[in-house]
Amino acid sequence: MASSSPLPQFKEAKATATTMMWQVYHQRPRTPRSKAIAYSVLAFLFFLFMLISLSGQPEPDFWTKFPSQHPFPESPEYAQVALPRRTDVAANDTLPHGLEKPNPNLHVLVPMQQGSRGACRTLASAMILGYPPPILVGYGKNTPGVTESERTVDRITRLRDYLKPSHIMKDHDLVLVVDAEDVFFQLPPEILVTRFQEILRTNNKKLLQKHGFAKVEQTTAGAPPNLVPKYSQRVLFGASKLCYGALEADPGCVSVPESSLPPDVYGWKTDIYPDGHLNRPRWLNPGAVIGQAADLRLIYTEALRIIEQRHQKDADYQALTQMYGRQEVIRELERRRTTNGLKEWAQGMLGINEASNITGIHVRLETGHRYEYGIGVDFESQMFFTQMMSRNDVEWIKYNNITKTSILQGQFAVPREHRLLLPDDIAALPNPYNQSRFAKSQSTHPEWNATLDKLPNPEEHSWHNSPLMTNPHSAAVPVLSHLNGDQKLRNAWWEKMWFFPWGRALLRRYVRSSRGFDAAQSSLLGGQEWWNMRGGRGGLWTDEQNWVTFSDVCEGQERDLFDDDLGPWAKENGDPDEPVYNRFGNLMYGKEPPKEEGS
Ligand SMILES: *[C@@H]1O[C@H](CO)[C@@H](O)[C@H](O)[C@H]1NC(C)=O
Ligand SMILES: *[C@@H]1O[C@H](CO)[C@@H](O)[C@H](O)[C@H]1NC(C)=O
Ligand SMILES: *[C@@H]1O[C@H](CO)[C@@H](O)[C@H](O)[C@H]1NC(C)=O
Ligand SMILES: *[C@@H]1O[C@H](CO)[C@@H](O)[C@H](O)[C@H]1NC(C)=O
Ligand SMILES: *[C@@H]1O[C@H](CO)[C@@H](O)[C@H](O)[C@H]1NC(C)=O
Repeated sequence: MASSSPLPQFKEAKATATTMMWQVYHQRPRTPRSKAIAYSVLAFLFFLFMLISLSGQPEPDFWTKFPSQHPFPESPEYAQVALPRRTDVAANDTLPHGLEKPNPNLHVLVPMQQGSRGACRTLASAMILGYPPPILVGYGKNTPGVTESERTVDRITRLRDYLKPSHIMKDHDLVLVVDAEDVFFQLPPEILVTRFQEILRTNNKKLLQKHGFAKVEQTTAGAPPNLVPKYSQRVLFGASKLCYGALEADPGCVSVPESSLPPDVYGWKTDIYPDGHLNRPRWLNPGAVIGQAADLRLIYTEALRIIEQRHQKDADYQALTQMYGRQEVIRELERRRTTNGLKEWAQGMLGINEASNITGIHVRLETGHRYEYGIGVDFESQMFFTQMMSRNDVEWIKYNNITKTSILQGQFAVPREHRLLLPDDIAALPNPYNQSRFAKSQSTHPEWNATLDKLPNPEEHSWHNSPLMTNPHSAAVPVLSHLNGDQKLRNAWWEKMWFFPWGRALLRRYVRSSRGFDAAQSSLLGGQEWWNMRGGRGGLWTDEQNWVTFSDVCEGQERDLFDDDLGPWAKENGDPDEPVYNRFGNLMYGKEPPKEEGS
């Protein structure tokens, strides 16, 4: 007995130990009492979960209650707007007749009533970078005695009207609308278009993950319903560090998505410093926007409806902010309706919160009214840099100086530095200083003049050693900069732009590029690489289809544009006004010169 008694005890002790180990590893209670407790806890959790997911009556489907299906089927992110350059046509080929441009066009709309220093910088930088001739919306329509609010209504009405389908505007065309007074273009249109599409693709992937698909019944009887992504981004506005004033409690300020930049991108005071200059850009700014004509038309139509009920100067800004906010409220309501309570809970535990803040939001929503416009903002200033509260967020960088680029992020206290390199899309662009092979020999206007057309040697100068305005916080080189902040900075910033020292020569090159061999070759290739088929360079269209020259609009601004003492634009050689031709060689403006050209 004495020998046997320790054994069972030992056995039991060992068994208990094993049980404990087993419990530690498997976390499962084994005694009947703990079992009972566990089951009741589970039952309670299940009950709670059912309560959360089935609370109240079934909620309405917000996607159909507020029509959210997008009316225009073509997705802007897949449109063939930018086509690769081609150079496989011989110099003596002739131009075919009846050219058609099948792919979408790009239009640049600039609402402005008259020329000014600011407006001419906007126009000159767009032209230097090879954008299609800007369209001046409301030019020469300066009615005296009109109030600011009437002017706003007129501007938005004209924008909307110009976006209606016509022989020059197709629903699928891409349209960039920029403020006239304070925009500097920095990069050419191919980057604008490809970045826009890239950003949409990235964001729409995320939106699809978050919101999933919606079922759309087909019109043909018996056909299975179509699945379409429930929500998508189709239009991109500039992002601002400040929300439109006086709307602090509006969804446009509260419910819109958080920035995609890291929460500490401006250090530990990010988003909490009182004056806002350390905020991550998050709110809509209407100074620059890009999207398909049909999508923008829908947006301006709704903005106009809101503005007409209200009379104030920047009512469009307010209306667009509110529209963005309401769009996000509906998306959030629909998300909460369809989300799985368990998933929501699990995500909450993991600290991933997809929810938009609609706490304490009171907005009147009309059933049957559209609140979905596919609006998004460019958080990282890949496209549009908004200067307000961001004057300290930029530096003009030459990317070939590695010493300089590597100390820069330190200077800007960027957390988690990564090497600042010239973005690949810029590195792949043609040299910005290269003259056409034919510039000197062809008798195209403006005629070649070694002084006026002097550009740096392209063998030595390129995008790599040109000063590019960069936002080191987001490592972005923006396509354009919207200088809506301190007006005193405009002169200084203009002189820092890469093209400034060569402004006149680059603008002359642009005007020349509409004629001669290069232009003919483009036409021959179907004109697909032209941004639109109306042609004509060196001038501007009005929204009433009139052609005005750059000197009509900007005469007297030369000192502020070029600062080169070479006199008035287009009169440098004492030239008479130059005729302007469209893509088909038809005279659009000015007098036909004596016949002598052979190209
Ligand atoms: C075009 O030029 C090429 C050589 O550059 C020549 O072989 C060809 O015959 C020319 N064609 C015409 C129609 O002149
Ligand atoms: C949500 O919005 C309300 C009302 O504007 C605000 O008081 C609250 O702090 C916000 N919550 C979060 C988490 O941002
Ligand atoms: C590169 O940048 C550094 C620091 O700003 C400067 O001292 C140096 O002169 C620059 N080098 C060149 C080649 O520009
Ligand atoms: C300039 O353009 C011509 C074609 O027009 C090309 O052959 C040449 O390589 C270009 N030069 C540079 C430096 O890019
Ligand atoms: C070139 O332009 C300069 C500056 O306007 C002018 O002085 C010069 O006469 C022009 N040269 C020719 C050959 O036209």
